[in-house]
Amino acid sequence: MNTNKFWFWSSVTAIALLSFVLSFYTTNISIRGIEVIFMKRIFEQSGIYEIFSFIGKSLGLTRSGVTCDTTKWKSALIAKYKVELVLTVDQNGCGKFNTLQKAVAAVPDNSPKPTLIILDAGTYKEKVLVGVKKINLIIQGQGYQKTMITWNDTAASSKGTIYSYTVCIDAKNFIAYDIGFKNTAPRPAPGAVGGQAVALRVRGDQSAFYNCGFFGFQDTLNDAEGRHYFKHCHIEGTVDFIFGNARSLYQDCEINSVPSGAKAIGAIAAQQRASTKEKTGFSFVNCKIGGSGKLFLQMAGMIGETPKEIS
Ligand SMILES: *[C@@H]1O[C@H](CO)[C@@H](O)[C@H](O)[C@H]1NC(C)=O
Repeated sequence: MNTNKFWFWSSVTAIALLSFVLSFYTTNISIRGIEVIFMKRIFEQSGIYEIFSFIGKSLGLTRSGVTCDTTKWKSALIAKYKVELVLTVDQNGCGKFNTLQKAVAAVPDNSPKPTLIILDAGTYKEKVLVGVKKINLIIQGQGYQKTMITWNDTAASSKGTIYSYTVCIDAKNFIAYDIGFKNTAPRPAPGAVGGQAVALRVRGDQSAFYNCGFFGFQDTLNDAEGRHYFKHCHIEGTVDFIFGNARSLYQDCEINSVPSGAKAIGAIAAQQRASTKEKTGFSFVNCKIGGSGKLFLQMAGMIGETPKEIS
């Protein structure tokens, strides 16, 4: 190697190292400039980047300058459910993944052993599908106001109410703790067409939700099919905001009606059982009903009952 080349590569290495170290302490990408990004590419391709990144993570540093708090990943659920695989999700580079969907993809298919996905606080803007093979999955957030999954599809944008979900659970034995599910599509005007917007759709059998929140307006929670348990959950919407043909128990939940105006009429449930031969139904035990306006428990009498005004 001749002297010129030697000095050239030495400078390149020195600049890249310096900018890499700096990148730990800067949050603003623009001040680092094009060269730094270029150097980062070289590093990424050489594998050196990963080594530094690993050292940085071990020291609790991330590129955004955030100090990682690893105590977040110590969940009591690991022992409770005898979890063998824990996947972590966080938006500051402190977890293994930065989206819930990427973590779900990493869950082993048809595994008889429970997998736990822990999400740090944050608003995760993504439409998530937990497919039928992702059985025995547990997801845990930091509280339903702190860890939220949000998306904004509507019946019109997704070609049908049931496809407008933010999160859809098709797998059986799914459990969620301390997470908020929200559809951020705007509140449809009374009588408007296509504005239904589902926050969560659940079709997997034997699902349970503890301390979770479900936020939307029309058709918030599609409790579609299977046997489900909702404990200590907050569910809000305008009309038919708990609907579907599941067989579910809602215990100690907070049900909140948020009608679009003083005169608007709210309706909590639209249970879709088609005949008395079916075993499906929604049971509300020790739930609190709040919010404003006139409210019906169930508007459309699916099996011939008359709607009852409850407030
Ligand atoms: C969802 O939000 C995006 C970005 O704000 C917007 O472009 C899109 O039209 C919204 N979709 C619906 C169905 O409202």
